Amino acid sequence: MLDDPYRDVDLVQLYDLDNPGGEDHAYYRALADELGARSIIDLGCGTGMLTRSLAGPGRTVLGVDPSRTMLDFARSQPRGDAVTWVFGDATALPPARTADLAVCTGNAIMHLAPDELPTTLAAMAGALRQGGTFAFETRNPAYREWESWTPEATYGERVTPVGQLREWLDVTEVADDRVTFDAHNVFPDGEDRVYTSVLYFRSAERFRRELESSGFTDVVCDGDWRGGPVGDGSRLLVFRARRA
Ligand SMILES: C[S@@+](CC[C@H](N)C(=O)[O-])C[C@H]1O[C@@H](n2cnc3c(N)ncnc32)[C@H](O)[C@@H]1O
Repeated sequence: MLDDPYRDVDLVQLYDLDNPGGEDHAYYRALADELGARSIIDLGCGTGMLTRSLAGPGRTVLGVDPSRTMLDFARSQPRGDAVTWVFGDATALPPARTADLAVCTGNAIMHLAPDELPTTLAAMAGALRQGGTFAFETRNPAYREWESWTPEATYGERVTPVGQLREWLDVTEVADDRVTFDAHNVFPDGEDRVYTSVLYFRSAERFRRELESSGFTDVVCDGDWRGGPVGDGSRLLVFRARRA
């Protein structure tokens, strides 16, 4: 298994600055309210910014993540005690069949290797009550976003709370739906901390098949956060499905 690309305690502190949440967080919060969800699971919760905002009176929220660094950071944040944090992947969840809603945000589902996708979906189905909703988003392979992850296009220099940084991305392999890239982070002393990620760009049809064979029904895939249709110009695929 690949080393955790989010294991750097310095860089994890920058995650929420770089990913402050916008339409995506608003979408998931509105969905939780619309469903009247009283029990929510956030799979791949990371720093837990959305997870903590989902918690509130009359609601239990579980944040699950296999990155110790991410989870420790999440736990230490304001309102961190409003969430139950679980270290691990979806298989760490008890098959309680009680959750009203499970989400997997920030394209976290793209980290799942081919053998992990069916076990993860089955575990989510096992954690949700009948009729419960699983919602997630993933980058649309037709948009070919990885083609813009070149050192030239992504290079930047900035002053951050952990010091001046020079940063860029470099795609090192594209093989079928699997994209491997290095994130370079050069600190003032010249140290380049390089973290390698592997992301799987899966089509809407592929997800639909996988969801339906893992116990989900009523699969809906939108091309944006406002319920627009999917086209090649859609950067994201936004999914919702119900546990059959
Ligand atoms: C890009 S971050 C997204 C974090 C958060 N959901 C958000 O919206 O900001 C991806 C997260 O997925 C987690 N992850 C990686 N592999 C995973 C797996 N097999 N199951 C669940 N989460 C995983 C990583 O540890 C990381 O915290």
